Amino acid sequence: MNEEQRLQGQQVKEKNPTDKKSEKDYSKYFETVFLPPSLKEAKKRGKEEVAYHNDFKIDEQLRGMGSGKKFYIRTYGCQMNEHDTEVMAGIFMALGYEATDTVEDANVILLNTCAIRENAENKVFGELGHLKHLKQQRPDLLLGVCGCMSQEESVVNKILKTYNHVDMIFGTHNIHRLPEILKDAYMSKEMVVEVWSKEGDVVENLPKVRRGNIKAWVNIMYGCDKFCTYCIVPYTRGKERSRRPEDIIQEVRHLAAQGYQEITLLGQNVNAYGKDFEDMNYGLGDLMDEIRKIDIPRVRFTTSHPRDFDDHLIEVLAKKGNLMDHIHLPVQSGSTDVLKIMARKYTREQFLELVRKIKAAIPDVALTTDIIVGYPNETEEQFEETISLYREVGFESAYTFIYSPREGTPAAKMKDNVPMEVKKERLQRLNAVVNELSAEAMKKYQGQTVPVLVEGESKNNPEILAGYTNKNKLVNFKGPKTAIGKIVNVKITEAKTWSLNGEMIEEHQLAEVE
Ligand code: SAH
Ligand code: SF4
Ligand code: F3S
Repeated sequence: MNEEQRLQGQQVKEKNPTDKKSEKDYSKYFETVFLPPSLKEAKKRGKEEVAYHNDFKIDEQLRGMGSGKKFYIRTYGCQMNEHDTEVMAGIFMALGYEATDTVEDANVILLNTCAIRENAENKVFGELGHLKHLKQQRPDLLLGVCGCMSQEESVVNKILKTYNHVDMIFGTHNIHRLPEILKDAYMSKEMVVEVWSKEGDVVENLPKVRRGNIKAWVNIMYGCDKFCTYCIVPYTRGKERSRRPEDIIQEVRHLAAQGYQEITLLGQNVNAYGKDFEDMNYGLGDLMDEIRKIDIPRVRFTTSHPRDFDDHLIEVLAKKGNLMDHIHLPVQSGSTDVLKIMARKYTREQFLELVRKIKAAIPDVALTTDIIVGYPNETEEQFEETISLYREVGFESAYTFIYSPREGTPAAKMKDNVPMEVKKERLQRLNAVVNELSAEAMKKYQGQTVPVLVEGESKNNPEILAGYTNKNKLVNFKGPKTAIGKIVNVKITEAKTWSLNGEMIEEHQLAEVE
């Protein structure tokens, strides 16, 4: 460790006072880097200003660290994690590593994990078990766990106890420290644990290696302050921090110049964008209004929280152009009582009013959502209200989940009188409605000619191309490989429940069709 890194490390420790109890439990790990997470710390929201760093640099001495070596990152969870993986890939490449897509070839394996539900976590523990034999065959292999699970004390404790073939654990706030963490892991015989529980900073100039050159994720903000009672994200991702608009716009312009066809603005709750700026009144509507002027064909955003969805944003989205007419608007439940216990801070009526306003401004908008069934003590009537709201809004698709208790969240402490069989049955009933409305939405496309951004060959058949419509519907169609990466016109010949089939219409045929 050089002087600068040592000081950095000290600052980190001062900024992240660790829970005394866990320090005592793990005193034997103290010879090496050991900074465990604390959900209690992660919950705190201070007034300190966000610090912006533009000075990310890789230590020259570490640059050759990866020469002749390969890295493999397995990503779980949401787009935020996928994008973090792109940043980590960028750092690996800058260190001289090469990418590989098989664990057998890799010298470093990272699992970029998700903590949102228990089954997401179980998948990771399962994978850690599978990887043990590789580590036994090749002791010089480095195995790391990062992402949202690393931010949880219970997970770090379990890994320390049960999966001690893991070499390093780091969290969501310090991926820019990957070079130093790798170096520490190579040098140390003990597991390197460096998880920051409190982070107020935004690091701007991190390298990124994006997956593909057609669509790109662009972070606009980090963290979440909503603290919905079931959700672990505000603990694993910290407080809301918005990137400065000029940095975002510069990144989008750069992507446009590189030929990207679509960007998705990312945040846990993008509608809160800008609320943390102290020097200006600037929100998501303002940002979108500037981005729509950039010459990039498609702009999307995710995820919206209904509560902060303001009139200005609706006004800007109604200008259309490159702003796609699809909004993912998680409702979670159709019952005002359940929404209250979830701390979503809107009622069924307020949600319906928002939908009414959106539809009035953008009549053909496609709305999709997220729903949790089987919340603690959810009654049959309350569940029925979710079904009726789903139909009333006319959602075109949804991600549906059975509630999963997350340690450390308020809901995990609630007594629950809903048996698992009832929750599963409710999920099935909801999914039947989701399928029904999805099929209906798809049927409207029958016979229409729609623009499709072609992403590549279909997964099941290389003869068939696959892409997405403006409203994000998957289309499979016959067409030349030269169409990949372009927006082409496709005539829809068959509507299925979850996808469309069609035929590509060449430019010169278009006039005949119309
Ligand atoms: N920030 C996004 C949600 C990110 S998590 C938003 O507020 O819309 C994605 C989805 O996972 C949530 O919308 C919710 O439906 C689901 N989810 C979150 N925590 C959950 C839990 N404890 N159990 C089940 N589903 C959960
Ligand atoms: Fe979780 Fe709610 Fe924040 Fe979404 S808004 S990430 S559901 S706490
Ligand atoms: Fe999972 Fe973390 Fe995303 S918990 S859903 S990876 S923010």
